[in-house]
Order: sequence, then structure tokens, then C-alpha cells
Amino acid sequence: MVSPTAFFLSMAQSDTRNPQHSFTEMNELVLPNDTNTLNNLMGGKLLHWMDICAAIAAQKHSNRIVVTASVDSVSFKETIRLGDVVTLSAYVTRSFNTSMEVFIEVHAQNIPTGEKIKSNEAYYTFVALDSRNRPVKVPTIEPQTDLENEKFAGALRRRQIRLILAGKMKPEDAQELKNLFV
Ligand SMILES: CC(C)(COP(=O)(O)OP(=O)(O)OC[C@H]1O[C@@H](n2cnc3c(N)ncnc32)[C@H](O)[C@@H]1OP(=O)(O)O)[C@@H](O)C(=O)NCCC(=O)NCCS
Repeated sequence: MVSPTAFFLSMAQSDTRNPQHSFTEMNELVLPNDTNTLNNLMGGKLLHWMDICAAIAAQKHSNRIVVTASVDSVSFKETIRLGDVVTLSAYVTRSFNTSMEVFIEVHAQNIPTGEKIKSNEAYYTFVALDSRNRPVKVPTIEPQTDLENEKFAGALRRRQIRLILAGKMKPEDAQELKNLFV
């Protein structure tokens, strides 16, 4: 039998992980301090919780401290009300060299009525840092399910859009993105 120490050492050294390894779920109760004057959850508060949940997923994948490099567009389609329970779930869809894309979904539940809604979803990008706060290589991802494979394939195109918008990639170098249009 593998000892717990040997197991954790092998995990730390392994350079490939599946998305479920990073799966992170977080629950929050919407309290009066979290709301606006209409008793709805403040958008900024939700972004804060999403950032934390997604960062934990990226930390689990990389075993490193991570920083948020970018957040893709987040829209607030459904109102989350005072007293609702907010459930956030996140996992790493793909890693590159030092960066990781994390997919996060948010649901809100009114426990007395049982009503549950999907509030929103987003992609965050995190960069793993070493002990001197320099970007450091992260393990690769091996998707297992159809959905994980779909997210994995799309991650490359989403990364190209992000890097073009950030001025870090020339559009002509975004081959996978260009392939969508030819
Ligand atoms: C994110 C950060 C570490 C990138 O550092 P950098 O010097 O630009 O480093 P690089 O250009 O070598 O990029 C490192 C990685 O970040 C990725 N990256 C940089 N900017 C990005 C962006 N806007 N969107 C997505 N990924 C980005 C690069 O693609 C690269 O990933 P890769 O190694 O997987 O290819 C740096 O900009 C930083 O520390 N930003 C502040 C982070 C922070 O404080 N976040 C909280 C904000 S409130």
C-alpha cells in the first residue's frame, strides 16, 4: 500500500492532472452587508467570491500561490436576493505554461421556496508564482469527459482572444482563432 506521504509527494511531482483534481465548491449566504439598496447581492461582492473560488481551484491544480491575470466578460443575468444561498463551483479547464484557465459557475437557491437558478458563469485566468513571485510552470491538464474535452479545446481560442485584447499576441498569430473563420 502507498503511504500517505508517498502519495502526496507523487501528486506534487506529477505534471499532469485531470480537471476534477481542482474542482472547488463554495457556499455563501447573502447577508445584509452584501446587498445594494434593492436587497440584491452586489455585483462586486459576487465577483469577489468568484475570484476566491476560482483561485482555490487554480491553487489546487498547481500547488502554488496564484494571481488573477484576467477575467472574461461577466454578465449578471439573474438577481440574487438577500437570504439566498450562493453556490460557486470551479475547475481548471486547461493550463498552458505558467497560466491556467478556470471555469466557474454560480447558482443561487432560496431555501424556503426551493427555487434554484443559475446566476452566471465566467472564465478566469490565473498565473502560478514561485517563492520569488515569478511565474512558474504548472502541470498540464488531461480532460476526461466530453464536457471537459470541449472546454479544453475552446480554452486555446479563448486564450488567444484574451492575449490579443491585452496586446500580448498579434491577431495573425492566433491560428486556432483564424481557423474558425476559414
Ligand atoms: C499576471 C502576471 C503575473 C503576468 O506577468 P507578466 O510579466 O506579464 O508575465 P508574462 O508575460 O511572462 O506572462 C505570464 C503568463 O501570464 C499570461 N498572461 C499575461 N497577461 C494575461 C492576460 N491579460 N490574460 C491572460 N493571460 C495573461 C501569459 O500568457 C503567460 O501565460 P503562459 O506562461 O501560460 O503562456 C503579472 O501581470 C501580474 O502580476 N499582474 C498582477 C496580478 C494581480 O495582482 N492580480 C490581482 C489583481 S486585483
